[in-house]
Amino acid sequence: MKEKNTFLKAEIDFDSPNRNIVPLTTSVDSSGKLTISGCSIEELIAQYGSPLYLMDELTLRNSCRAYKKALDKFYPGKSLPIYASKANSSIFMSNLISSEGFGLDAVSEGELLTALKGGVDKSKIVFHGNNKSDSEIEFAVTNKIKVIVDNEYDLERMINLSESLKSNLKIMIRFTPGIECHTHEYIRTGSFDSKFGFGLENLNYVFKQINKAKYLDLVGLHAHIGSQIFELEPHNDLAEILVNKAIEAKSFGHKITELNVGGGLGIKYTNEDDPPSIEEWVKTISQSIIKVCDKNNFELPILMCEPGRSIVSTAGVTIYKIGSIKEIPGLKTYISVDGGMSDNPRPITYQSNYSACLVNDPFNLKSSNKYTIAGKHCESGDVLFKSIELGLFKTGDLLCVFGTGAYNNSMSSNYNRIPRPAALILSDGNAELIQKRETSEDLLKLDVLPDRFLKHY
Ligand code: LLP
Repeated sequence: MKEKNTFLKAEIDFDSPNRNIVPLTTSVDSSGKLTISGCSIEELIAQYGSPLYLMDELTLRNSCRAYKKALDKFYPGKSLPIYASKANSSIFMSNLISSEGFGLDAVSEGELLTALKGGVDKSKIVFHGNNKSDSEIEFAVTNKIKVIVDNEYDLERMINLSESLKSNLKIMIRFTPGIECHTHEYIRTGSFDSKFGFGLENLNYVFKQINKAKYLDLVGLHAHIGSQIFELEPHNDLAEILVNKAIEAKSFGHKITELNVGGGLGIKYTNEDDPPSIEEWVKTISQSIIKVCDKNNFELPILMCEPGRSIVSTAGVTIYKIGSIKEIPGLKTYISVDGGMSDNPRPITYQSNYSACLVNDPFNLKSSNKYTIAGKHCESGDVLFKSIELGLFKTGDLLCVFGTGAYNNSMSSNYNRIPRPAALILSDGNAELIQKRETSEDLLKLDVLPDRFLKHY
Protein backbone atom coordinates (compact mmCIF):
# COMPACT_ATOMS: atom_id res chain seq x y z
CA MET A 1 0.00 0.00 0.00
CA LYS A 2 1.23 3.50 -0.89
CA GLU A 3 2.43 5.35 2.20
CA LYS A 4 0.09 8.22 3.04
CA ASN A 5 0.84 11.48 4.78
CA THR A 6 4.56 11.22 4.16
CA PHE A 7 5.10 14.51 5.97
CA LEU A 8 4.27 12.72 9.23
CA LYS A 9 6.84 10.02 8.61
CA ALA A 10 9.53 12.45 7.43
CA GLU A 11 12.69 12.72 9.49
CA ILE A 12 12.41 15.61 11.93
CA ASP A 13 15.17 18.12 11.33
CA PHE A 14 16.23 19.76 14.61
CA ASP A 15 18.81 21.97 12.90
CA SER A 16 16.33 23.41 10.43
CA PRO A 17 13.04 23.62 12.30
CA ASN A 18 11.49 25.75 9.54
CA ARG A 19 11.92 22.79 7.19
CA ASN A 20 9.63 20.45 9.15
CA ILE A 21 5.88 20.42 8.59
CA VAL A 22 4.96 19.06 12.03
CA PRO A 23 6.13 20.09 15.52
CA LEU A 24 9.32 18.33 16.66
CA THR A 25 7.47 16.31 19.31
CA THR A 26 4.77 14.91 16.99
CA SER A 27 4.27 11.19 17.49
CA VAL A 28 1.73 8.39 17.34
CA ASP A 29 0.78 6.50 20.52
CA SER A 30 0.35 2.73 20.96
CA SER A 31 -3.25 2.93 19.74
CA GLY A 32 -2.18 4.75 16.57
CA LYS A 33 -3.43 8.18 17.60
CA LEU A 34 -1.59 11.45 17.09
CA THR A 35 0.17 12.98 20.10
CA ILE A 36 2.17 16.21 20.47
CA SER A 37 4.73 16.66 23.21
CA GLY A 38 3.46 13.43 24.77
CA CYS A 39 -0.08 14.83 25.17
CA SER A 40 -3.16 13.01 23.97
CA ILE A 41 -4.97 15.39 21.66
CA GLU A 42 -8.29 13.66 22.36
CA GLU A 43 -7.86 14.31 26.09
CA LEU A 44 -6.98 17.96 25.50
CA ILE A 45 -10.11 18.46 23.41
CA ALA A 46 -12.20 16.72 26.07
CA GLN A 47 -10.82 19.14 28.67
CA TYR A 48 -10.50 22.42 26.74
CA GLY A 49 -13.02 22.07 23.92
CA SER A 50 -12.68 22.60 20.18
CA PRO A 51 -11.34 24.23 18.08
CA LEU A 52 -8.07 24.49 19.93
CA TYR A 53 -4.71 26.09 19.14
CA LEU A 54 -1.77 24.02 20.43
CA MET A 55 1.84 25.22 20.63
CA ASP A 56 4.83 22.96 21.17
CA GLU A 57 7.40 24.55 23.48
CA LEU A 58 10.31 22.47 22.24
CA THR A 59 9.71 23.53 18.63
CA LEU A 60 9.42 27.20 19.61
CA ARG A 61 12.63 27.19 21.61
CA ASN A 62 14.41 25.17 18.95
CA SER A 63 13.56 27.75 16.28
CA CYS A 64 14.81 30.59 18.46
CA ARG A 65 18.01 28.67 19.16
CA ALA A 66 18.56 27.90 15.47
CA TYR A 67 18.66 31.66 14.81
CA LYS A 68 20.93 32.32 17.79
CA LYS A 69 23.28 29.49 16.83
CA ALA A 70 23.54 30.62 13.20
CA LEU A 71 24.06 34.27 14.18
CA ASP A 72 26.78 33.31 16.66
CA LYS A 73 28.46 31.22 13.96
CA PHE A 74 28.31 33.65 11.04
CA TYR A 75 28.13 37.03 12.77
CA PRO A 76 29.69 36.46 16.17
CA GLY A 77 29.06 38.82 19.04
CA LYS A 78 27.23 41.53 17.10
CA SER A 79 23.65 40.44 16.52
CA LEU A 80 20.17 40.85 17.93
CA PRO A 81 17.39 38.57 16.74
CA ILE A 82 14.02 40.26 17.12
CA TYR A 83 10.74 38.32 17.06
CA ALA A 84 8.12 39.84 14.73
CA SER A 85 5.21 39.64 17.14
CA LYS A 86 2.57 40.19 14.43
CA ALA A 87 3.06 36.47 13.69
CA ASN A 88 1.60 35.54 17.07
CA SER A 89 1.35 38.14 19.78
CA SER A 90 0.65 37.17 23.38
CA ILE A 91 2.07 37.68 26.83
CA PHE A 92 3.21 34.08 26.66
CA MET A 93 5.06 34.49 23.35
CA SER A 94 6.68 37.72 24.55
CA ASN A 95 7.88 35.93 27.66
CA LEU A 96 9.19 32.92 25.74
CA ILE A 97 11.18 34.82 23.11
CA SER A 98 12.56 37.11 25.77
CA SER A 99 13.77 34.12 27.78
CA GLU A 100 15.62 33.04 24.60
CA GLY A 101 17.38 36.42 24.41
CA PHE A 102 15.27 37.78 21.55
CA GLY A 103 14.02 41.33 21.13
CA LEU A 104 10.57 42.05 19.74
CA ASP A 105 9.10 43.98 16.81
CA ALA A 106 5.75 45.64 17.52
CA VAL A 107 3.51 47.64 15.21
CA SER A 108 0.84 48.97 17.56
CA GLU A 109 0.33 50.04 21.14
CA GLY A 110 -1.41 46.70 21.68
CA GLU A 111 1.63 44.72 20.57
CA LEU A 112 3.93 47.03 22.58
CA LEU A 113 1.86 46.58 25.72
CA THR A 114 1.79 42.81 25.23
CA ALA A 115 5.59 42.80 24.90
CA LEU A 116 6.03 44.84 28.06
CA LYS A 117 3.60 42.65 30.01
CA GLY A 118 5.55 39.61 28.79
CA GLY A 119 8.75 41.09 30.19
CA VAL A 120 10.63 41.89 26.98
CA ASP A 121 13.62 44.12 27.63
CA LYS A 122 12.60 47.62 26.40
CA SER A 123 15.99 48.21 24.87
CA LYS A 124 15.38 45.23 22.58
CA ILE A 125 11.97 46.33 21.31
CA VAL A 126 11.54 48.17 18.01
CA PHE A 127 8.38 50.02 17.06
CA HIS A 128 7.27 49.84 13.43
CA GLY A 129 4.30 51.12 11.47
CA ASN A 130 3.44 53.10 8.36
CA ASN A 131 0.76 55.12 10.15
CA LYS A 132 1.55 55.29 13.84
CA SER A 133 -0.83 57.37 15.92
CA ASP A 134 0.47 60.25 18.03
CA SER A 135 -0.38 58.36 21.19
CA GLU A 136 1.43 55.23 19.97
CA ILE A 137 4.57 57.26 19.28
CA GLU A 138 4.32 58.88 22.69
CA PHE A 139 3.80 55.49 24.32
CA ALA A 140 6.96 54.16 22.64
CA VAL A 141 9.07 57.21 23.44
CA THR A 142 7.86 57.37 27.07
CA ASN A 143 8.82 53.73 27.47
CA LYS A 144 12.23 54.35 25.85
CA ILE A 145 11.41 52.02 22.96
CA LYS A 146 13.22 52.64 19.69
CA VAL A 147 11.00 54.01 16.92
CA ILE A 148 11.59 52.93 13.34
CA VAL A 149 10.76 56.05 11.38
CA ASP A 150 8.82 54.96 8.31
CA ASN A 151 7.91 58.21 6.52
CA GLU A 152 7.98 62.02 6.61
CA TYR A 153 5.03 62.21 8.96
CA ASP A 154 6.83 60.01 11.50
CA LEU A 155 9.99 62.06 11.09
CA GLU A 156 8.22 65.35 11.66
CA ARG A 157 6.59 64.07 14.84
CA MET A 158 9.82 62.55 16.14
CA ILE A 159 11.64 65.85 15.56
CA ASN A 160 8.92 67.77 17.39
CA LEU A 161 8.80 65.30 20.26
CA SER A 162 12.57 65.25 20.71
CA GLU A 163 12.63 69.05 20.76
CA SER A 164 9.83 69.32 23.28
CA LEU A 165 11.55 66.73 25.50
CA LYS A 166 14.97 68.28 24.87
CA SER A 167 16.48 64.85 25.07
CA ASN A 168 18.25 62.73 22.49
CA LEU A 169 16.11 60.08 20.79
CA LYS A 170 17.72 57.21 18.92
CA ILE A 171 15.91 56.26 15.74
CA MET A 172 16.20 53.87 12.83
CA ILE A 173 14.74 54.62 9.44
CA ARG A 174 12.96 52.17 7.18
CA PHE A 175 13.29 52.35 3.43
CA THR A 176 11.94 50.41 0.46
CA PRO A 177 14.90 48.61 -1.11
CA GLY A 178 13.25 47.98 -4.49
CA ILE A 179 13.68 44.21 -4.35
CA GLU A 180 11.14 41.85 -5.93
CA CYS A 181 10.72 38.36 -4.56
CA HIS A 182 8.38 35.53 -5.40
CA THR A 183 5.70 35.45 -2.77
CA HIS A 184 2.03 36.37 -2.60
CA GLU A 185 1.62 40.00 -3.72
CA TYR A 186 -0.13 40.93 -0.45
CA ILE A 187 2.88 39.89 1.61
CA ARG A 188 5.53 41.47 -0.61
CA THR A 189 6.88 44.70 0.83
CA GLY A 190 10.27 45.39 -0.66
CA SER A 191 9.32 46.63 -4.13
CA PHE A 192 9.21 50.32 -4.99
CA ASP A 193 5.40 50.57 -4.90
CA SER A 194 5.21 49.39 -1.28
CA LYS A 195 3.35 51.52 1.29
CA PHE A 196 6.17 50.93 3.79
CA GLY A 197 9.28 53.02 4.27
CA PHE A 198 11.01 55.95 2.57
CA GLY A 199 11.70 55.58 -1.13
CA LEU A 200 15.32 54.75 -1.87
CA GLU A 201 15.63 57.93 -3.94
CA ASN A 202 14.60 60.10 -0.96
CA LEU A 203 17.11 58.74 1.52
CA ASN A 204 19.75 61.42 1.04
CA TYR A 205 17.14 64.11 1.64
CA VAL A 206 16.06 62.26 4.80
CA PHE A 207 19.67 62.04 6.01
CA LYS A 208 19.93 65.83 5.59
CA GLN A 209 16.64 66.44 7.41
CA ILE A 210 17.83 64.38 10.36
CA ASN A 211 21.06 66.41 10.40
CA LYS A 212 18.98 69.49 11.11
CA ALA A 213 17.22 67.83 14.05
CA LYS A 214 19.16 68.71 17.18
CA TYR A 215 17.95 65.82 19.33
CA LEU A 216 17.53 62.99 16.82
CA ASP A 217 20.24 60.39 16.61
CA LEU A 218 20.07 58.17 13.51
CA VAL A 219 21.62 54.87 14.61
CA GLY A 220 20.19 52.34 12.20
CA LEU A 221 18.63 51.42 8.88
CA HIS A 222 15.83 48.94 8.29
CA ALA A 223 14.38 47.23 5.24
CA HIS A 224 12.10 44.20 4.87
CA ILE A 225 11.27 42.57 1.55
CA GLY A 226 8.32 40.30 2.28
CA SER A 227 7.22 37.07 3.87
CA GLN A 228 7.24 33.31 3.12
CA ILE A 229 10.27 33.78 0.85
CA PHE A 230 12.19 30.72 -0.40
CA GLU A 231 14.94 32.51 -2.33
CA LEU A 232 18.23 33.60 -0.75
CA GLU A 233 19.31 36.00 -3.49
CA PRO A 234 16.91 38.83 -2.50
CA HIS A 235 18.21 38.73 1.07
CA ASN A 236 21.80 38.75 -0.15
CA ASP A 237 20.99 41.86 -2.22
CA LEU A 238 19.07 43.48 0.61
CA ALA A 239 22.04 43.13 2.97
CA GLU A 240 24.30 44.70 0.36
CA ILE A 241 21.95 47.65 -0.19
CA LEU A 242 21.66 48.22 3.55
CA VAL A 243 25.44 48.46 3.98
CA ASN A 244 25.78 50.73 0.96
CA LYS A 245 23.13 53.06 2.39
CA ALA A 246 24.87 53.03 5.77
CA ILE A 247 28.07 54.10 4.00
CA GLU A 248 26.16 56.90 2.27
CA ALA A 249 24.66 57.97 5.60
CA LYS A 250 28.21 58.28 6.93
CA SER A 251 28.99 60.86 4.28
CA PHE A 252 26.12 62.91 5.74
CA GLY A 253 27.63 62.65 9.21
CA HIS A 254 25.51 59.79 10.57
CA LYS A 255 27.11 56.86 12.36
CA ILE A 256 25.02 53.81 11.50
CA THR A 257 25.70 51.07 14.03
CA GLU A 258 22.62 48.88 13.46
CA LEU A 259 21.30 47.22 10.32
CA ASN A 260 17.93 45.51 10.46
CA VAL A 261 17.17 43.14 7.57
CA GLY A 262 13.57 42.39 8.60
CA GLY A 263 12.17 38.86 8.44
CA GLY A 264 10.68 36.82 5.65
CA LEU A 265 12.21 33.34 5.72
CA GLY A 266 9.60 30.85 4.53
CA ILE A 267 8.51 27.60 6.15
CA LYS A 268 7.34 24.25 4.89
CA TYR A 269 3.55 24.07 4.93
CA THR A 270 3.30 21.15 2.49
CA ASN A 271 5.62 18.64 0.86
CA GLU A 272 5.86 20.96 -2.15
CA ASP A 273 7.52 23.74 -0.12
CA ASP A 274 11.31 23.84 -0.03
CA PRO A 275 12.53 26.75 2.09
CA PRO A 276 16.22 27.29 2.84
CA SER A 277 17.25 26.53 6.40
CA ILE A 278 17.58 29.19 9.08
CA GLU A 279 21.33 28.63 8.98
CA GLU A 280 21.52 29.22 5.21
CA TRP A 281 19.44 32.39 5.53
CA VAL A 282 21.57 33.82 8.33
CA LYS A 283 24.78 32.81 6.54
CA THR A 284 23.73 34.54 3.30
CA ILE A 285 22.88 37.79 5.06
CA SER A 286 25.89 37.77 7.37
CA GLN A 287 28.38 37.06 4.61
CA SER A 288 26.87 39.71 2.38
CA ILE A 289 27.13 42.36 5.11
CA ILE A 290 30.66 41.35 6.09
CA LYS A 291 31.81 41.38 2.45
CA VAL A 292 30.59 44.91 1.71
CA CYS A 293 31.80 46.24 5.06
CA ASP A 294 35.27 44.75 4.54
CA LYS A 295 35.49 46.11 1.01
CA ASN A 296 34.64 49.60 2.19
CA ASN A 297 36.47 49.49 5.48
CA PHE A 298 33.18 50.12 7.26
CA GLU A 299 32.88 49.02 10.88
CA LEU A 300 30.60 45.97 11.21
CA PRO A 301 27.23 47.11 12.48
CA ILE A 302 24.98 45.16 14.84
CA LEU A 303 22.92 42.80 12.69
CA MET A 304 19.24 42.72 13.60
CA CYS A 305 16.74 40.39 11.96
CA GLU A 306 13.02 40.07 12.56
CA PRO A 307 11.79 36.51 11.98
CA GLY A 308 8.14 35.85 12.73
CA ARG A 309 6.71 32.90 10.80
CA SER A 310 9.90 30.80 10.96
CA ILE A 311 9.89 31.07 14.78
CA VAL A 312 6.32 30.21 15.52
CA SER A 313 4.49 28.63 12.58
CA THR A 314 5.63 25.01 12.74
CA ALA A 315 5.26 24.96 16.53
CA GLY A 316 1.51 25.54 16.20
CA VAL A 317 -1.34 23.26 15.16
CA THR A 318 -5.10 23.72 15.21
CA ILE A 319 -7.46 20.93 16.22
CA TYR A 320 -11.00 20.93 14.83
CA LYS A 321 -13.96 18.62 15.34
CA ILE A 322 -15.59 17.25 12.21
CA GLY A 323 -19.28 18.05 12.01
CA SER A 324 -21.56 17.81 9.01
CA ILE A 325 -20.59 15.79 5.96
CA LYS A 326 -22.20 16.61 2.62
CA GLU A 327 -21.65 14.42 -0.39
CA ILE A 328 -22.37 15.88 -3.82
CA PRO A 329 -22.39 12.75 -5.97
CA GLY A 330 -19.88 12.82 -8.78
CA LEU A 331 -18.46 16.17 -7.62
CA LYS A 332 -17.05 16.36 -4.10
CA THR A 333 -17.65 15.67 -0.44
CA TYR A 334 -17.62 18.58 1.97
CA ILE A 335 -16.53 17.99 5.54
CA SER A 336 -17.35 20.91 7.79
CA VAL A 337 -15.29 21.66 10.87
CA ASP A 338 -16.14 23.80 13.90
CA GLY A 339 -13.85 26.71 12.98
CA GLY A 340 -12.60 28.13 9.70
CA MET A 341 -11.81 31.57 8.34
CA SER A 342 -12.21 33.22 11.74
CA ASP A 343 -9.38 31.22 13.34
CA ASN A 344 -7.39 30.80 10.09
CA PRO A 345 -8.03 33.52 7.51
CA ARG A 346 -4.97 32.59 5.41
CA PRO A 347 -6.57 30.16 2.92
CA ILE A 348 -9.33 32.61 2.00
CA THR A 349 -6.96 35.60 1.98
CA TYR A 350 -3.87 34.21 0.25
CA GLN A 351 -5.04 30.80 -1.06
CA SER A 352 -2.55 29.28 1.39
CA ASN A 353 -2.04 25.55 1.56
CA TYR A 354 -1.58 23.47 4.70
CA SER A 355 -1.08 19.84 5.68
CA ALA A 356 -3.49 18.00 7.98
CA CYS A 357 -4.36 14.57 9.30
CA LEU A 358 -6.98 12.75 11.32
CA VAL A 359 -6.03 12.46 14.99
CA ASN A 360 -7.37 8.87 15.10
CA ASP A 361 -5.77 7.69 11.89
CA PRO A 362 -2.86 10.02 11.08
CA PHE A 363 -1.49 7.87 8.26
CA ASN A 364 -4.84 7.21 6.59
CA LEU A 365 -4.13 3.50 6.93
CA LYS A 366 -7.76 2.47 6.74
CA SER A 367 -8.26 3.43 3.04
CA SER A 368 -8.49 7.02 1.90
CA ASN A 369 -10.34 9.50 -0.26
CA LYS A 370 -10.24 13.15 -1.23
CA TYR A 371 -12.38 15.68 0.59
CA THR A 372 -13.02 19.41 0.73
CA ILE A 373 -12.75 20.81 4.25
CA ALA A 374 -15.01 23.76 4.88
CA GLY A 375 -15.30 26.06 7.86
CA LYS A 376 -18.56 26.91 9.62
CA HIS A 377 -18.83 30.51 8.43
CA CYS A 378 -21.59 31.88 6.30
CA GLU A 379 -19.31 32.32 3.31
CA SER A 380 -18.80 29.92 0.38
CA GLY A 381 -15.09 30.74 0.26
CA ASP A 382 -14.64 29.57 3.84
CA VAL A 383 -12.70 26.50 2.76
CA LEU A 384 -9.56 25.37 4.60
CA PHE A 385 -8.63 22.63 2.11
CA LYS A 386 -9.95 22.46 -1.44
CA SER A 387 -8.90 18.83 -1.74
CA ILE A 388 -7.18 16.72 0.89
CA GLU A 389 -6.69 13.00 1.24
CA LEU A 390 -8.05 11.56 4.49
CA GLY A 391 -8.74 8.09 5.86
CA LEU A 392 -11.97 6.87 7.39
CA PHE A 393 -13.73 9.26 9.74
CA LYS A 394 -17.11 10.09 11.19
CA THR A 395 -18.77 13.13 12.68
CA GLY A 396 -17.08 13.99 15.98
CA ASP A 397 -13.61 12.86 14.89
CA LEU A 398 -10.71 15.29 15.21
CA LEU A 399 -8.66 16.91 12.47
CA CYS A 400 -5.19 18.34 13.12
CA VAL A 401 -4.01 21.15 10.81
CA PHE A 402 -0.24 21.77 10.95
CA GLY A 403 1.78 24.96 10.62
CA THR A 404 -0.86 27.27 12.08
CA GLY A 405 1.33 28.93 14.72
CA ALA A 406 1.88 32.09 12.65
CA TYR A 407 -0.68 34.54 11.32
CA ASN A 408 -3.66 32.46 12.50
CA ASN A 409 -4.40 33.49 16.10
CA SER A 410 -2.98 36.97 15.44
CA MET A 411 -5.18 37.43 12.35
CA SER A 412 -8.27 35.77 13.81
CA SER A 413 -11.63 37.52 13.83
CA ASN A 414 -15.09 37.11 15.29
CA TYR A 415 -16.84 36.92 11.92
CA ASN A 416 -20.34 35.51 12.46
CA ARG A 417 -19.77 36.23 16.16
CA ILE A 418 -17.74 33.10 16.57
CA PRO A 419 -15.57 33.22 19.71
CA ARG A 420 -11.82 32.70 19.39
CA PRO A 421 -10.36 29.30 20.37
CA ALA A 422 -8.33 28.69 23.51
CA ALA A 423 -4.57 28.17 23.17
CA LEU A 424 -2.32 25.80 25.11
CA ILE A 425 1.42 25.39 25.41
CA LEU A 426 2.53 21.75 25.41
CA SER A 427 5.70 20.61 27.05
CA ASP A 428 6.87 17.18 28.29
CA GLY A 429 3.40 15.72 28.59
CA ASN A 430 1.93 18.82 30.22
CA ALA A 431 -0.56 21.26 28.74
CA GLU A 432 -0.97 24.77 30.09
CA LEU A 433 -3.44 27.43 29.08
CA ILE A 434 -1.93 30.51 27.40
CA GLN A 435 -5.17 31.95 26.02
CA LYS A 436 -8.63 31.39 27.45
CA ARG A 437 -11.44 30.42 25.11
CA GLU A 438 -13.57 33.41 24.23
CA THR A 439 -17.28 33.03 24.97
CA SER A 440 -20.32 34.40 23.15
CA GLU A 441 -20.90 36.58 26.22
CA ASP A 442 -17.39 38.05 25.82
CA LEU A 443 -18.39 39.18 22.37
CA LEU A 444 -21.16 41.35 23.80
CA LYS A 445 -18.85 43.22 26.17
CA LEU A 446 -18.24 46.18 23.89
CA ASP A 447 -21.79 46.45 22.50
CA VAL A 448 -23.77 49.45 23.66
CA LEU A 449 -27.50 49.98 23.25
CA PRO A 450 -28.33 53.70 23.66
CA ASP A 451 -31.15 54.24 26.17
CA ARG A 452 -33.65 55.53 23.61
CA PHE A 453 -33.58 52.13 21.87
CA LEU A 454 -34.54 50.27 25.05
CA LYS A 455 -38.26 50.75 24.44
CA HIS A 456 -38.03 48.36 21.51
CA TYR A 457 -37.28 45.48 23.85
N1 LLP B 1 9.51 42.62 9.92
C1 LLP B 1 8.61 43.37 9.28
C2 LLP B 1 8.85 44.81 9.16
C3 LLP B 1 7.47 42.80 8.72
O1 LLP B 1 6.59 43.56 8.09
C4 LLP B 1 7.25 41.40 8.86
C5 LLP B 1 6.06 40.78 8.34
C6 LLP B 1 8.22 40.65 9.55
C7 LLP B 1 9.34 41.30 10.06
C8 LLP B 1 8.07 39.18 9.78
O2 LLP B 1 8.09 38.46 8.61
P1 LLP B 1 8.08 36.85 8.65
O3 LLP B 1 9.40 36.39 9.20
O4 LLP B 1 6.96 36.42 9.50
O5 LLP B 1 7.91 36.45 7.23
N2 LLP B 1 -0.17 37.87 7.13
C9 LLP B 1 0.78 37.34 6.18
C10 LLP B 1 2.18 37.73 6.52
C11 LLP B 1 2.37 39.22 6.63
C12 LLP B 1 3.76 39.58 7.04
C13 LLP B 1 3.84 41.02 7.37
N3 LLP B 1 5.12 41.43 7.78
C14 LLP B 1 0.61 35.85 6.09
O6 LLP B 1 -0.23 35.29 6.79
O7 LLP B 1 1.28 35.18 5.29
